[in-house]
Amino acid sequence: MLDKKIILAITGSIAAYKSAILARMLVKEGAEVQILMTPAATSFISPLTLSTLSKRPVFSSVSAEDAWNNHVEMGLWADAMIIAPATANTLAKLSAGICDNIVASVYLSARCPVFIAPAMDLDMWKHPATVANVEKLKSFGNHFLPVGYGQLASGLIGEGRMAEPEEIVASLYRHFQGAQDFSGKKVLITAGPTYEPLDPVRFIGNRSSGKMGIAIAEGFAERGASVKLVLGPSKLSAKHARIETTKVQTASEMHSAALKYFPGSDIAVLAAAVADYRPREVADQKIKKSEGQMTIELEKTPDIAAALGKIKQPGQFIVGFALETNNELDNARQKLERKNFDFIVLNSLRDTGAGFNFDTNKITILHKGNKRKDFELKTKAEVAQDILNEIAAFFK
Ligand code: PMT
Repeated sequence: MLDKKIILAITGSIAAYKSAILARMLVKEGAEVQILMTPAATSFISPLTLSTLSKRPVFSSVSAEDAWNNHVEMGLWADAMIIAPATANTLAKLSAGICDNIVASVYLSARCPVFIAPAMDLDMWKHPATVANVEKLKSFGNHFLPVGYGQLASGLIGEGRMAEPEEIVASLYRHFQGAQDFSGKKVLITAGPTYEPLDPVRFIGNRSSGKMGIAIAEGFAERGASVKLVLGPSKLSAKHARIETTKVQTASEMHSAALKYFPGSDIAVLAAAVADYRPREVADQKIKKSEGQMTIELEKTPDIAAALGKIKQPGQFIVGFALETNNELDNARQKLERKNFDFIVLNSLRDTGAGFNFDTNKITILHKGNKRKDFELKTKAEVAQDILNEIAAFFK
């Protein structure tokens, strides 16, 4: 239940249609919802639709006919204010303190937490003016919902989509219930690549940046878990205080660290891209060029996931990843069974923007028994939340 008083402020963007769904969801969750609109928003969605859904009159100006819509009272009444969609224009006004409409006037009067879900075209979102406005609004303590990646109303593809209503409701729940649904849980994450040395200067490695695993670690820590992050050679690092990072280089080092932490963990998420083979011999000195071909003999590395799957106890939960380039679903299903995962997250290098190094990913979650969930291309932070929500459902 979300038995809170919520102001939903809608500004002039095509994404306003999602706000009708958001209003309906909030009412269904038990919230009292007061909808405000900028004049521009009324061209995108009808106040009548919104007042029907919220069961309250909708206000789109500070005064109407002979009535004064008291923005100060509204600002004090609310437990939370959501501005969704928030256009570039509204962000500029809010950051400058301009209050020439009811949304901006109530925003300036509100003492409650404010959640802002921007929506605009990708160039507007990346423009230094918008970036500066967002930074300024964040510095005032406003909560920003991450924008989604995908096809925009302009036809361009990129960042700028308004967060989905489900994500906004989930953020409110996290805010009011402390977002601590993994509180007390101990989580092991593997992330990044491994480097298997050939000699003191060369190694066999892969293109993993560590972004996906770090986003998952940050997501768990924000939601209350204590996280052990076993991170291969990555330029990146995790920031949250509840994340303890062990840096490793090779599959063998990652294996030892994972075996050390797994017995005390409730959940393990194995996002690392671990080398399957390593040079059988590592030269002490740099290998010199010689005439003719060179052959390197490789041996198998330990399969960390399979090792953890074997010693998994009742109550422990393992999520694996599958990075595929072909025959994706079959390969991922085989790994799900063979490694004794509870579910597996499939990403394919055939999907643009998915896999190594991108800030985005596109995943399919495969459960045992053929149940499958496909997700759109999203930022890795959003993908991490989807994975966490899927895990949370098992722990409820
Ligand atoms: O780090 P980024 O740049 O953000 O990229 C993210 C990612 C593409 C690396 C990530 O999303 C991902 O797919 N990680 C798994 C990559 C992989 O090696 O997949 P796989 O299909 O080869 O392995 C299957 C599972 O077994 C994985 O959970 C893997 O961590 C695990 N494994 C594999 C081999 C091994 N020796 N030990 C393992 O634990």
